[in-house]
Amino acid sequence: MGYVWDLFVRRTLSISVELTMVKAIQSLYPSIEAVRFTNSGLEATLLAIRLGMAYTGRPSIAKFAGHYHGGHEQVLVSTHAVTDDATHLKKTAESMGLPDYFLQHTEILPFNNIEISQQILREHHRQIGVVMLEPLQAGYIPARQEFIRRLRDLTMELGMVLVFDEVKTGFRICLGGAQEFYGVRPDLTALGKVLGGGFPIGAVGGRHDILDLTSPRRSQGGQDVVFHSGTFNGNPMSLLAGLRTLEFLQQSGNYTRLLNTAENLRRRLQAISEAQGLPVKTVGAGSIFNLVFPAAPDGSDEEPLDPVVAENSPRHRNLRGKLDFLLMQHGVFSKPYNRFSVSLAHDATAINHTLEAFEQCMASTKTTNHSSSKSL
Ligand SMILES: Cc1ncc(COP(=O)(O)O)c(C=O)c1O
Repeated sequence: MGYVWDLFVRRTLSISVELTMVKAIQSLYPSIEAVRFTNSGLEATLLAIRLGMAYTGRPSIAKFAGHYHGGHEQVLVSTHAVTDDATHLKKTAESMGLPDYFLQHTEILPFNNIEISQQILREHHRQIGVVMLEPLQAGYIPARQEFIRRLRDLTMELGMVLVFDEVKTGFRICLGGAQEFYGVRPDLTALGKVLGGGFPIGAVGGRHDILDLTSPRRSQGGQDVVFHSGTFNGNPMSLLAGLRTLEFLQQSGNYTRLLNTAENLRRRLQAISEAQGLPVKTVGAGSIFNLVFPAAPDGSDEEPLDPVVAENSPRHRNLRGKLDFLLMQHGVFSKPYNRFSVSLAHDATAINHTLEAFEQCMASTKTTNHSSSKSL
């Protein structure tokens, strides 16, 4: 009896945590009418694709060049940004062991280019059931407002399920993610990372009529149901950690403090780099940004800067590589070439330490640069 009671209490508590989290998500993401929890962002994008294919009855997806959606077969295609002609995008397998099937069933679109994206989507509209994107490429390169609005209209017209992968941008660009930032309502959203407050989690949320395909009520035989099950799905430990994180982010002034910290850090990094005569630009929104060395050494590039082009330039690769390794030697780990994700754990001490290290490293980057290469 004791065991059964214990099991009952545990199960009830964990369901109540799950429901509390669903309500917390829905209060921030009005597009999310129903939710399924997973253990990672990877599983969330995988389930979103399965749902979209089941809903539309179409066997292919379209994704954008340079967009990362986790380590499963369907999306490990062309995850690196391309700078060549958008009309001739290369489809690239990003891992050994990827069966051709997945390349054949994944179309690659150019981000922020609605004209070419439209051509490809119209051409393959009978096959493509799902269009998935990071609304900010790699979490920090923003979609143009007009691009994302037209993509929404187009996918609706062509009967495709539009999935925002907000695993990075969720709770970071705004509390309501990139969809709040752009005022666009996707059909499905993939969440992860912040949602678990440091513990493993993922979630797919969105239209009730699509999520309902996972409901076991639909069939006894399994043929009419989208399969979704997993030992640790809805893990109460992750949900509790996530709930506490969301509560903390919403406590008075915390989110504004986070945004101000990111903005302040961006401004001061730029000011230091300009004072050192090796200007960087920052690209991003909310609490995520990246540092880019523009092509023109004095930073006088045409605005707006194209971050994808700038990041692939030899000048950026060289300088940023040096800077990141120097920063590491000064106790600041910025994943090489990668974005900066600011959190509330970054207090004044951490920010000041970062700025001091940056100041010293920029001086060394500049010296190394001048002595080693005249072309930069
Ligand atoms: C946009 C995006 N989607 C999906 C994933 C995969 O998430 P996970 O690493 O939790 O599987 C990531 C991870 O970095 C991501 O950034």
